[in-house]
Amino acid sequence: PPRTKPRHFTDLAVMDGAELRRILALGAAIKAKRRKGTPSVVKPLAGKTLAMVFDKPSTRTRVSFDVGMRELGGETLMLTGTEMQLGRGETIADTARVLSRYVDAIMIRILEQEAMQELADNAEVPVINGLTKDTHPCQIMADVMTFEEHRGSIAGATVAWTGDSNNVLTSWIHAAARFDFTINVATPAELAPPAEIVAWASANGARLNLTTDPRAAVSGVQAVVTDCWVSMGDEDEGRRHNLLKPYQVDTDLMALADKDALFMHCLPAHRGEEVTDAVIDGPHSVVFDEAENRLHAQKGVLAWCFGLEAGLWEAV
Ligand code: CP
Ligand code: NVA
Repeated sequence: PPRTKPRHFTDLAVMDGAELRRILALGAAIKAKRRKGTPSVVKPLAGKTLAMVFDKPSTRTRVSFDVGMRELGGETLMLTGTEMQLGRGETIADTARVLSRYVDAIMIRILEQEAMQELADNAEVPVINGLTKDTHPCQIMADVMTFEEHRGSIAGATVAWTGDSNNVLTSWIHAAARFDFTINVATPAELAPPAEIVAWASANGARLNLTTDPRAAVSGVQAVVTDCWVSMGDEDEGRRHNLLKPYQVDTDLMALADKDALFMHCLPAHRGEEVTDAVIDGPHSVVFDEAENRLHAQKGVLAWCFGLEAGLWEAV
């Protein structure tokens, strides 16, 4: 019999807002039942294995998926690109077909979005995007969860991004359309978001405002977001540093935002580059809540991929 298509979590752009809301609600319900250090009473993923394929380094994504899967009762398998036959030229499609015979879901971090998508297209089990050069959907699920825990619904709010336009920004732009908030983006002209992302935003009703002026972007907003100046796979480090210096988030820039504005950063941070110590360690910063919420939001993603329902936790 033909198999039903697995539920992949590859990109916020291909999901609808209601589905993303259900995933966040699942994550929040699971989080509400969690007491660190005590065994979870619900182990719905017992007997399931998640393969974690890392072609690039990671701290948060690796640990949060590993711990999250275990807390839901499942097992994990850590695989790195260079140790796999992938590194010697086995195709992504064949790798997807083979892994599907052993494991119940795959999480992958790989630079090429197309490679991640090819894995999903050829896998018979759910595939989760753990970062590509183009997108970082799990991060922004955690970030929306974090914003809403501190400030209530993100719908109708305005978030400002200042710095490089990268994978994290693209997923924030996707989220602006799906969760109905405004996003102001300040980048140097040379590092502006790609035309296809801007076109996607307008085709999908995202309220995206582009500028080269970080002060204009952050003025009066409810959250200020930035990220590193040199992402994995980027070159021209010196040129990027020169272009991006004026986009640093310091206390003067933060002071232009709403008085209760959040400072957000996916981490790892490069202190003294995109953000000063005073801001990242200051009263507006929620960066470690974002890191924690990777665990909770991704449990929502895992639960959704495996077709589990929120009632499972609420009933306990
Ligand atoms: N934010 C994030 O994805 O961190 P890692 O690179 O440590 O996984
Ligand atoms: N933009 C960064 C995010 C790291 C989590 C990178 O791609 O390296």
